[in-house]
Amino acid sequence: MSSDSDTPKIKILPNGPYVVTGNVPLRERIIVQKGKHYEYKDGRELPQAEEYQLCRCGKSKDRIFCDGRHTQVGFDGTETASRKPYAERAEKIEGPALDLLDDGRCGLARFCHREEGSAWKLTEKSDNPELKQEAVIAASECPTGRLVAVEKDGTQLEPVYEPSIDILRDPAKGVNSGIFVKGNIPIESADGELYEVRNRVLLCRCGKSITKPFCDALHLI
Ligand code: FES
Repeated sequence: MSSDSDTPKIKILPNGPYVVTGNVPLRERIIVQKGKHYEYKDGRELPQAEEYQLCRCGKSKDRIFCDGRHTQVGFDGTETASRKPYAERAEKIEGPALDLLDDGRCGLARFCHREEGSAWKLTEKSDNPELKQEAVIAASECPTGRLVAVEKDGTQLEPVYEPSIDILRDPAKGVNSGIFVKGNIPIESADGELYEVRNRVLLCRCGKSITKPFCDALHLI
């Protein structure tokens, strides 16, 4: 029988960290370029725990876990992202054999780029079965969940993820990237409201995003 403490969840503290409960596996992943596309390689091994607090302000000396520094730096963690559901925010781009939903939430992780072009270009050429498959990969690998590939019968194509969290690093750009939350982990705002539960979201961990709590690539600036 499962208890609340077994259920994965992320609670955002006011002007403070993300409190992760429910034994959510945590790992570090590094974005690497291979030709014109991108892959992950494993980073450092991270400690596992039933509960842990991930830094949201970007000032923790540890870089991953909150060390309380948010109180010293006067972090303003006000959540500013739209709370409308993805389906209402996303625009539909129609291709010949595949459609693409796009809500514009970009973390510049670059997984939307493949050898033969971007998710958008590949969708336009989706009457070619190989390019259609590439378009699906380009959409599905986006950690922000910005892009979703949709079959013409309306079926949304999502990768299957167990609940887990990947701390992303982007050494090619000399920065830490966001917190990739996978597998439909509920995220509760500091005000108690639940965000729409999604299979993929990228949370800000530099403290600079203007669409908190989500990453908007401002770690690159
Ligand atoms: S949120 Fe606590 S140190 Fe960054």
